[in-house]
Amino acid sequence: MKLYTAGASPFGRTVELVAYELGLHEDIEIIATKVAPTTANKDYQATFPLRKIPALVTEEGVVLGESGLIAQYLAARVGDTHLFAQNAPEHWQVLSDYMLAKGMADCAVGCRYELAVRPEEKRWQPWVDDQLDKIDAGLAHFAKTPPTTEGRLTIAAIALGATLGYLDFRFDGIVDWRGKYPALVAWAEPLFARPSFAATMPG
Ligand code: BEZ
Repeated sequence: MKLYTAGASPFGRTVELVAYELGLHEDIEIIATKVAPTTANKDYQATFPLRKIPALVTEEGVVLGESGLIAQYLAARVGDTHLFAQNAPEHWQVLSDYMLAKGMADCAVGCRYELAVRPEEKRWQPWVDDQLDKIDAGLAHFAKTPPTTEGRLTIAAIALGATLGYLDFRFDGIVDWRGKYPALVAWAEPLFARPSFAATMPG
């Protein structure tokens, strides 16, 4: 399998984390891929027309774009039902938490593009502030009710860990989640110490 991804992407990292946690990481070749708004990577577009990352190309040549879809594929490949809590009472809660954590990463990546890629004279600070407010509301939610990290990880814990890692990486001095939400720091510390997280630090 080939995974097209970028070292900074929280969505690419989510897939890499899933692969590690399922014991599949050695079966995946990582293809470092550059994507940026307004700069078309035509080589990559020949593989995935939307040229979004991550995308996984299976051994059969099927192109799976979107981290949640790839995670489902990897889980199905090894017959795992725990990642998405299939047939378990907490199934919808896991999906709800996953969508919230992934949505926070969407807001953060949007802000990153606005702050780092958009020409300075065109930047829209109220839009950035609005995204940061959504991220903060998500952090407050998870500080009160984080996904469980006991036993094997679900997609919710993995995605939240990837989002927090992205905030550390790109939003140092902008989003002080560590200062504001000590409960979330206590939740994240053992997660970040896992081999999967240590092996996939953003960068
Ligand atoms: C980043 O550089 O922050 C980034 C790169 C690719 C996807 C998402 C984020």
